Order: sequence, then C-alpha cells, then structure tokens
Amino acid sequence: MQHELLDLSPVIPVVVLDDATDAVPVARALRAGGIGVIELTLRTPAALDAIRRVSAEVPDIVVGAGTVTTPGQAKQAADAGASFLVTPGSTDRVLDACFDTGLPFLPGAGTVSEAMRLAERGLTALKFFPAEAAGGLAYLKAVAGPLPQLRFCPTGGITPENAPSYLALPTVGCVGGSWLTPGDALSAGDFARVESLARQAAALA
Ligand code: 3PG
Repeated sequence: MQHELLDLSPVIPVVVLDDATDAVPVARALRAGGIGVIELTLRTPAALDAIRRVSAEVPDIVVGAGTVTTPGQAKQAADAGASFLVTPGSTDRVLDACFDTGLPFLPGAGTVSEAMRLAERGLTALKFFPAEAAGGLAYLKAVAGPLPQLRFCPTGGITPENAPSYLALPTVGCVGGSWLTPGDALSAGDFARVESLARQAAALA
C-alpha cells in the first residue's frame, strides 16, 4: 500500500496554493497532462479547502496532503479527504498521527539513521528530502548498498533535467517536485502551462 504511492506517477507534483479556487483547475490540468496524482501542501491557509475541493470534484486524480509537520495536520488532512500523506521529516508524534489516520503515507528521511528508524516501523517507501541538498544521486546510490529494501521519492531540487537520472536508480520509484505548478503560472491562471509541464513530466516514465 505504502509502496504503491511510488508507482502512481513518475513525478508527484508538489503544489502550493494561495487560492483554493485554483485547486480544481490545477488538478484537472495535471490530469489532462497525464499526471494522476497531486500533493497539496499544508503551507497555506487554502490547503485544506483545496484538498476538500479536489477530492470532491476531481475523482480521477489521487489527492494527497504534503508538508504534514504536526499530528493535528495529519488528522485534518484525512478529514478533508486526502488519500495519502507526505511528511518532510519524521518525528514520533507525527508518525503516530499518520498511522492513526489509516492512510498510506510517505515519511520524510534525509539520513541513514532516520531511514533505518522508519524501516523498523515498517515504512520502507520514503520521501528523500531535501534530495539535492542532502546528497542527491550519490547519496541514494550509497544507501542502496546497506539498505537495498528501501525505496525513495527524492524531492527538493528535482528538475526536468535531473529527474531522469534519479528515476534510473533501482531504488527510486518516483520523484517529487514543484516545477509543474510554478507560482507565476498559478497567479496568471495559466493552467494550460501546468498541463504542458505535466505532459512533459508524464513522459519521464
Ligand atoms: C517539498 O516540499 O517537497 C519541496 O519543497 C519541493 O521541492 P522543490 O520546490 O525543490 O521541487
């Protein structure tokens, strides 16, 4: 179940919305471009409403909540209709709250010890964050030696240019990135650009 999150799409779009009314057009644009998943980050007051709208109005996309950093946010996101959760890092309290929701989730890990602690709790599909800053490709290749059972969604600094090298690693199931929904496109209501960026990202498969 957890590992299936890595198989939804070559790229999980990490989306920051200031205006919840953008949520449905953004989700539809991603879907039209061939991306079947959206991670709406809990970084803005609009996020929970955005999750509610997408889960109600865009049934053909899998909507998750990202940037879950407190136990309360895990529950709020589940109540809003999120189908999965993503955390940037992993504290015991946030992990407990994520488990309590019953939803699949990608916990964030940036070190080997964090990854090992998560594996002890049965979590072997992880968000590697912040991917480029924490060591990038070389780091993931090194970790695959002692911990080949772990699979990753590297996120943070991923671009259309470096994504193919990550996706070529056997331990990488997908990557995450915010480049599909640039702030200037969203503020201009340019959902056609989102669709076009999604189409390019979907072709990375
Ligand atoms: C995240 O929250 O996962 C990152 O902020 C996304 O990183 P990016 O903006 O470098 O893609």
